[in-house]
Amino acid sequence: MPVPLLDLKRDVVAHRDEYLSAIARVVDSGTFILGPEVEAFEAAFASFLGAKHCVCVNNGTSALYAAYLALGIGPGDEVIVPANTFIATAEAASMTGATPVFVDIDSATHHLDVQDLDRVVTPRTKVVAVVHLFGMAADVAVVKAWADPRGIVVVEDTAQAHGAILADGQKAGTAGAIGCFSFYPTKNLGAFGEGGAAVTDDDALAERLRAIRAHGATTQNRHETFGTNLRMEAFQGALLGVRLLRLAAAAERRRSIAARYRAGLAGIPVALPPDVGARHVFHLFVVTTDRRDALKEHLASRGIGSAIHYPTACPDQPVYASRGIAGTCPNATAAAARILSLPMFAEMTDVEVDEVIDGVRSFFLA
Ligand SMILES: Cc1ncc(COP(=O)(O)O)c(C=O)c1O
Repeated sequence: MPVPLLDLKRDVVAHRDEYLSAIARVVDSGTFILGPEVEAFEAAFASFLGAKHCVCVNNGTSALYAAYLALGIGPGDEVIVPANTFIATAEAASMTGATPVFVDIDSATHHLDVQDLDRVVTPRTKVVAVVHLFGMAADVAVVKAWADPRGIVVVEDTAQAHGAILADGQKAGTAGAIGCFSFYPTKNLGAFGEGGAAVTDDDALAERLRAIRAHGATTQNRHETFGTNLRMEAFQGALLGVRLLRLAAAAERRRSIAARYRAGLAGIPVALPPDVGARHVFHLFVVTTDRRDALKEHLASRGIGSAIHYPTACPDQPVYASRGIAGTCPNATAAAARILSLPMFAEMTDVEVDEVIDGVRSFFLA
């Protein structure tokens, strides 16, 4: 039986009427950019996270870009970024004119290796970006304990971890100065197109973020700061509001799928994601094996989808490797050759999960 890596249509089919009535509300309102629907979602998402402010933008990359700009990052500054992340964490820093500096990852968690921070810090370091990769809340408190005394600001890239709980009980995205979210359709909280948000408890930062997303305007036609057009469309706000209501239940289902994988893959020579309860919302279920490419092929031959997040560590990407930094984060380079994301989405059936387990077991036990 084929099993897709992800199937976005199942949720849409199940809740079609709710989505269509949200769309109709926007059509009837005649307000298509920002406005009451986006404001209502901002309030709901801030309350869900326990954050004071939520500023919605047009995608997750924009959330990071606006966050770095709001913190005053620009040419001459350095932003520390974990070597295994989606390129946007680094790219948004480059867009401000700053330089992303890559820190290696911890091979067990795939999060930034706090032990490696001293190697990469310089007097120009202004920000360290913590990425809650794969949906697992990283240990922000430990990074803050390193960063705070140095006057370095922590930004959380929470694009993959909506609702994940940090070790101290706070939601991921609310412990650093600014938390950045993506609502790309495949994310745990996905829009029907592009979307993103930056959240913060700091009133002044929130005001700057709001200005940056609208051409730097603080009031109409008054531009006090540099900005651009990063505004969210009203359709996305209305639809995200509907999806937010089911986010916690979907995370629970993802954790139960992960538990089923964990039980079914016990004794198989693959490293499984850490078992950390509500710290993980399993945006992705990533296993690690030296035989990754052959396993991927074997699963494909059975019609089972899989993917690699990400096949090349950021410092090894041509756009950054041209700086002569390829290979400077060996754990990330090694992980990129060994990681494989198995099918994971809340609407997956247990039968499908068992099919994937059977596919992986048949590869190793053949
Ligand atoms: C870790 C991470 N950061 C940033 C982004 C960028 O978000 P977007 O695609 O919405 O611009 C993504 C998602 O693609 C991501 O996974």
